[in-house]
Amino acid sequence: MRIAISTGGGDAPGLNAVIRAVVLSSMQRGWTVYGIQRGFGGLLGDADVVPVTQDTVRGITHLGGTILGTTNRGNPFSWPAKQADGTVQEVDRSDEVVAAFRRLALDAMIVVGGDGSLRIAERFCEKGLPIVGVPKTIDNDVRGTVITFGFDTAVATATDAIDKLHSTAESHQRVFVVEVMGRHAGWIALNSGLAGTADAILIPEIPFDIGKVCDKVFERDLTGRHFSIVVAAEGARPAGGEELYQGGAAPGGVARLGGIAEHVARQIEERTGKETRSVVLGHLQRGGSPTTFDRLLALRFGAAAVRAVERKQFGHMVASDPPAIVMVPLSEALKGWTGVPLDHDSIQTARDLGICLGD
Ligand code: F6P
Repeated sequence: MRIAISTGGGDAPGLNAVIRAVVLSSMQRGWTVYGIQRGFGGLLGDADVVPVTQDTVRGITHLGGTILGTTNRGNPFSWPAKQADGTVQEVDRSDEVVAAFRRLALDAMIVVGGDGSLRIAERFCEKGLPIVGVPKTIDNDVRGTVITFGFDTAVATATDAIDKLHSTAESHQRVFVVEVMGRHAGWIALNSGLAGTADAILIPEIPFDIGKVCDKVFERDLTGRHFSIVVAAEGARPAGGEELYQGGAAPGGVARLGGIAEHVARQIEERTGKETRSVVLGHLQRGGSPTTFDRLLALRFGAAAVRAVERKQFGHMVASDPPAIVMVPLSEALKGWTGVPLDHDSIQTARDLGICLGD
């Protein structure tokens, strides 16, 4: 067997552990593995297709990022192509990907990605490519899997940052509003806010009333706690309002969430008179060494993907359904995404602990 592996979309800690597991599991079976660099770009001449061996994957389990590189601007079905007049137009180069796959005499491909890359993978399955998916994202919003690798590391990074803000917030008697990633899902905010003992946690699933957040700040003041920590998911929005996006179009025209922490901080300062600062953790949450949990999940996903290739279970992705790793049809997983269910135990726990959720 000659199989290929690609990593696409935003990176997540644990990608290298998946690559290692795929390579070593394949070599156990006598297969050859090729790494497609920069998402699907390696099949379009934008990057390379390189043999990946035991030597290549030595000592990478604990490394963040991906040794294959990645991009979230590389959809072969709408590939940005520079025109003679300098403008950029999107063209369908998917047939070139299929042709390159055949030319390389590949038997299967493992695509590691979030919903964007998995959606592309599904379209290639429809074009006849034998693909197994591996879900990846720090946002933990992929449907069909209880958890994705990268999420635990992102939560740990955010929790560490919140811990560090406590001492300076207390010393200065300030309010801090910490913006964390997660797109339209509040998983990172809820988990890091709980673990970091935030006083208010704002998640997209529960539109917030700024008055309620300020009440919490006042309540703490009255009990002698003259500082507060608010954790806001980047996708959080006020009741009746919209999500905030960063000014200016990102390359490829993809809108990027951002700015909610500063927005909330200004309102808290105006309404409470307390000095309020905002902190945006941003891509720090995607970096660094994966936690033990993420390494194990990533290794298990990688090995399970190879077993799925062996069974020819294409058009499926591996998924976590503790204690098992199961297979889920891509078509099923891509029917939507998962935010925090309102009846989730962590939401109830936050309420029981007196944490303000803005409602
Ligand atoms: O999906 C992962 C993620 O980090 C989101 O949490 C965030 O909204 C987005 O990617 C940021 O993307 P980019 O790296 O393109 O700014």
